[in-house]
Amino acid sequence: MTVILGIETSCDETAAAIVVDGNQVLANVVSSQVDLHARYGGVVPEIAGRAHESLLTPVIAEAMVEAGVNDQDIDVVSATHGPGLIGSLLIGVSAAKALSLGWNVPFIGINHHEAHLYAALLEEPEMDFPLLVMLVSGGHTMLIEFQDHGQYRLLGATVDDAAGEAFDKVARYLGLGYPGGPAIDDLSKEGDPAAIKFTPPMRNEGLNFSFSGLKTAVVNYVRQNPDAETADIAASFQAAVVDVLTHKARQAAHQIGAKGICLAGGVAANSELREKTLDICVEDGIQGFLPSRAMCTDNAAMVAATAWWRMQSQGPSPLDLGADPNLKLPFID
Ligand code: KG4
Ligand code: ZN
Repeated sequence: MTVILGIETSCDETAAAIVVDGNQVLANVVSSQVDLHARYGGVVPEIAGRAHESLLTPVIAEAMVEAGVNDQDIDVVSATHGPGLIGSLLIGVSAAKALSLGWNVPFIGINHHEAHLYAALLEEPEMDFPLLVMLVSGGHTMLIEFQDHGQYRLLGATVDDAAGEAFDKVARYLGLGYPGGPAIDDLSKEGDPAAIKFTPPMRNEGLNFSFSGLKTAVVNYVRQNPDAETADIAASFQAAVVDVLTHKARQAAHQIGAKGICLAGGVAANSELREKTLDICVEDGIQGFLPSRAMCTDNAAMVAATAWWRMQSQGPSPLDLGADPNLKLPFID
């Protein structure tokens, strides 16, 4: 039995979790800083770093109390070491290294994107490979072929804004506050998704995405139609994003002969995206897996789960491993 402490501080969630053998979550504590950043309309890196510094110790303590473990029970300490905000990453990485030294246990640095991929497997360990994972977050939009543990191939990505960024920017423009994804998701339930026809660029061109033109289309529409219902605009925008995401995920799944489609990242919490993805999987006779909303957004259970797999395949990280704001997933060709 291996008890792993996971730490996640790459953006604006301060999180700690205790996971046993890669899939038994004993505690998964997330302290969101959303309220701290909301008045600025987005994450302020300096504020995020300072908040992690004061929140991390109590969050780790809470996770350990909730899990009923003490420091002698922890076998491995893991933390996200990139990509993300440098000041935020450094807090988690430094804390993890200090604990690893103090408790005399291995330290493992985890790639935040890989952790999002493992969030899906954490709740559904029996998924068959190859899997098509659509990672849609505030910073990234990627279609990834998950061939086996540690083996990923990039099939498509956004050429400009990430899907979550598009949600956040459009919500901000519509005065719906921050974070925009959940606000648009909620308001869309009251609107007509067919009211306005927005089509994202590159819909029918391969597996890459482009979302910045869609945001501009919304802005132009609102300028020309100042009396349009905000709920209709939100619902139509969301329908366009979900349409292009599911269309390309389906294409990618066909291309690689995927046994299933998994969603990952914050935007995977979107109700419309979840529903449409499942519809596709049922129609195509493949598995569909939607992690719980808590597992879609940033958390530390996914970090500890990834550390379990990393521990078996590569062993611990050196203690001079740094925080890397631009860390990439090691894709194979
Ligand atoms: O993965 P995540 O928690 O953080 C990173 O970016 O790594 O993703 C956050 C993003 C934000 O852009 C937020 O607006 C979006 O996920 N999001 C959603 C929903 N919940 C969160 N987007 C659409 N619908 C949602 N329900
Ligand atoms: Zn994330």
